[in-house]
Amino acid sequence: MRTIEPLKEPLRKEITVPGDKSISHRAIMLSSISDKTVEIRNFLTGEDCLSTIACLKAAGVKIEQTGSRVLVKGCGLNGLCEPEKILDAGNSGTTVRLLTGLMAGQGIKATFTGDESLRRRPMDRIINPLREMGAKIIGEKVLPITLLPSKLRGIRYELPVASAQVKSAILLAGLNAAGMTTIIEPVPCRDHTEKMLRGFGVSIEKIGNEITLKPPRRLEAPDAIEIPGDISSAAYWLVLATCLDGSDVLIKNVGVNETRTGIIDVIRQMGGRIELINERTSGGEPLADLKVISSKLHGVEIGGEMIPRLIDEVPIIAVAAAFAEGATTINGLSELRHKESDRLAAIVEEYVKIGIDCAAHGDTLTIRQNKMRRSQCKTRGDHRLAMSLAIAGMLAEGVTLDDTDCINISYPNFI
Ligand code: S3P
Repeated sequence: MRTIEPLKEPLRKEITVPGDKSISHRAIMLSSISDKTVEIRNFLTGEDCLSTIACLKAAGVKIEQTGSRVLVKGCGLNGLCEPEKILDAGNSGTTVRLLTGLMAGQGIKATFTGDESLRRRPMDRIINPLREMGAKIIGEKVLPITLLPSKLRGIRYELPVASAQVKSAILLAGLNAAGMTTIIEPVPCRDHTEKMLRGFGVSIEKIGNEITLKPPRRLEAPDAIEIPGDISSAAYWLVLATCLDGSDVLIKNVGVNETRTGIIDVIRQMGGRIELINERTSGGEPLADLKVISSKLHGVEIGGEMIPRLIDEVPIIAVAAAFAEGATTINGLSELRHKESDRLAAIVEEYVKIGIDCAAHGDTLTIRQNKMRRSQCKTRGDHRLAMSLAIAGMLAEGVTLDDTDCINISYPNFI
């Protein structure tokens, strides 16, 4: 149980946020199948990324982690060993989906499971394409699933949902498949896997909405990878500073890959002032410092191709919408039902308790300003819901959260 008090003073400071979760996972995975030792800096030490490290250690990779610095001694493109124990991905969808793809091509047997939340999330979205590639998999819709030794062939696959985890699972499987692997994306979603694969010397081409990977003979790893700050973690301070009168904040070294910057576009559309300064590139990923000045917001309507660019930020955008004039409507949120919680239902049920006027109809969320009140909310083990409720409490009348441990999944020093 933790009580968050309203913030009385404007926020005027420089902030840094921890390393990007998606990029941290990928850095560990690709380094593990390289054939040298790679140093990863600003690695996210959140529980999800530690689950990835634990699974790869169980598959024989030597990984030394000291805070946010990690040394990974790669075992070669096809060098992972058969784990002796069941691989537990904890709460992490990215760990289990990407590693299933990566390990499917290794000719080993491996069983994956996860915590109660992860065991409810859909796995058929990766099982189906991996089976098309020739993977032998025991299991159907949900965890646990077992990979049996098999040989893969490249496929041409049209993604039924805009999911970077599914896209990445197939690309990682394609590294050890015979022939080319092509994925057709309905809508662009985060492309960190493609960017990092290029950084490891893999030939990967994007023409229109088709991504084609040619299996390499080996990965040419960089000596070091510097992980940019996570825009999904910066999102909480972006909204807090925007909505809190008199605030002026600089968030340093944030990844601004355009498949992730939907939150910046939406806050700007709502009337917010966010400036990108000191724009640069590191390891193929764009980054910048974000200057945020408080502003009066108005409601907007969003949907379509914007959604995958802000899918993890919907809970905090809904908080911003609660402090905006007029209604905000967010369409096309069916994927939110398959996150760490059913986030669409969770947002509505928990936000109403603190006085936010919001409702979901089908896959549309509508939020309006209302009279806020102090209340108790349940975080449902969902880190993004917990952090968004904490920010709402700071901006409004305070909030008591039943459990904030789940925040360690992605942002250990958030509180
Ligand atoms: C992620 C992809 C997204 C996102 C998740 C991280 C990734 O999931 O919500 O937090 O690192 O590839 P989906 O692929 O299910 O959309």
